[in-house]
Amino acid sequence: MGRLKSVFICSNCEFESPKWLGKCPKCGAWNSFTEDVIDTSPEKNAQEIKRGSGVGTDARALPLDEMSQDECIRSLTGLSELDRVLGGGLVRGSVVLLTGEPGIGKSTLLLQISGILSESRRVLYISGEESGGQLKLRAKRLGVDGKELFVLTETNVDKVLREVDRVKPEVVIVDSVQTMYSPLSSSSPGSVTQVREAALSFIAKAKNDNISVILVGHVNKEGSIAGPKLLEHMVDAVLCFEGDHQQAYRIIRAGKNRYGSTNEIGVFEMTDKGLCQVPNPSEVLLAGRPKKVSGNCAVCTLEGTRPIIAEVQALVSPTSFPSPRRTVNGVDYNRMCLITAVLEKRLGLRFSANDIYLNVIGGLHIDEPAADIAIALAMISSITDKIVPDDLVAIGEIGLAGECRAVSSLEQRVREAERLGFSRVVVPYRNIEKRPIECSVKLLPVKSVYEVLMLLADEEKAKETL
Ligand SMILES: Nc1ncnc2c1ncn2[C@@H]1O[C@H](COP(=O)(O)OP(=O)(O)O)[C@@H](O)[C@H]1O
Ligand SMILES: [Mg+2]
Ligand SMILES: [Zn+2]
Repeated sequence: MGRLKSVFICSNCEFESPKWLGKCPKCGAWNSFTEDVIDTSPEKNAQEIKRGSGVGTDARALPLDEMSQDECIRSLTGLSELDRVLGGGLVRGSVVLLTGEPGIGKSTLLLQISGILSESRRVLYISGEESGGQLKLRAKRLGVDGKELFVLTETNVDKVLREVDRVKPEVVIVDSVQTMYSPLSSSSPGSVTQVREAALSFIAKAKNDNISVILVGHVNKEGSIAGPKLLEHMVDAVLCFEGDHQQAYRIIRAGKNRYGSTNEIGVFEMTDKGLCQVPNPSEVLLAGRPKKVSGNCAVCTLEGTRPIIAEVQALVSPTSFPSPRRTVNGVDYNRMCLITAVLEKRLGLRFSANDIYLNVIGGLHIDEPAADIAIALAMISSITDKIVPDDLVAIGEIGLAGECRAVSSLEQRVREAERLGFSRVVVPYRNIEKRPIECSVKLLPVKSVYEVLMLLADEEKAKETL
């Protein structure tokens, strides 16, 4: 038996320490240490060194001209929402990491695409979490069947790889990488060492045999991937599955993609027949929105190449706390603080005496400054109790001086508002100053937050004269 040593490893940078530490001295991460057992015997180290340095293959640099080009063969998963996020389908020989909270629907999604993919190619679905019986039950519920869909319930990486050699699939799904272990390593499954070893084995397999591999990765309480941080760097693409458990909508986005853009999102709805695609997210997000209440404002954000209209809701009410509460959902907290400060300073609105609750409907997360004006309008509407008209969409960024700044792809956003039957769009003056947009909706150009405020006041006046 080798020499086993118990150590603590930082999951962020893999710094090793003989005892548990609250803060990593190398990378500064908090609470990142997990216990691990490593083998310090000479044979094991020799093994590591051999693999690390690639002894046995000759490494030679070539001029770029002489390099042969990799062919990027993609297979469509059959779900266009997912294909778009992948950058046009699953690439042969690539490794995709799919992460998300437990119960969000990772296994469901993968079993569904296994079913579709297996119509034209061989798929091996490896489950370390569920029994064959459970999988069969789920497959029946989702209406998945197929002769070319192979299922393996095993967690030993060596046995799994042997089956991959025997079955010769084109697509391998590993659910999940945290359950896989290598008997060569003495750490427990799910530890930093084991997850890294397992991932490395599958990545090597994917590259050598030109197989598409999808690894499922669990996330921990903080929302980052359990196991080594390195995992994200090792794979070709990282897809995050997000959504509210209470709501049926699920959003998939790419955190990293070597074969495509990282801006795209795919929208799904969880039903008892599995995940259904939502090709028209704006319509879904706007369905059943409350009419004629203060504190609401529609916004058009750009997710990748796709404009999506969502609704921002704000509730501003007098505080009963020494320091007022700020609760946000779906918007960046700091962005909201910045907008609050600008409105307070430039317009004299007393947000500091009020609690603010901000929410984006439908579990969408907006991280674009182009939503600033809509957020501001929702908050102004709530504090002044003046209603933002239902047929109005607001687009634009707010600067610290209270100016409204130009946004990218304005025309595309305006077109989406037009398509969904909105009749007025608040736009930054700077955007259309030089390049006017021809459209059937009325554009309301604004230069500053003051004009945004006046817009709401004019609206009220117009209603009175009616
Ligand atoms: N019989 C069912 N009918 C409808 N939805 C179900 C059923 N069973 C499970 N689900 C849904 O599937 C989800 C579990 O998905 P799963 O793919 O196992 O998640 P993950 O693999 O990400 O942990 C549950 O949260 C639930 O919403
Ligand atoms: Mg699962
Ligand atoms: Zn560290």
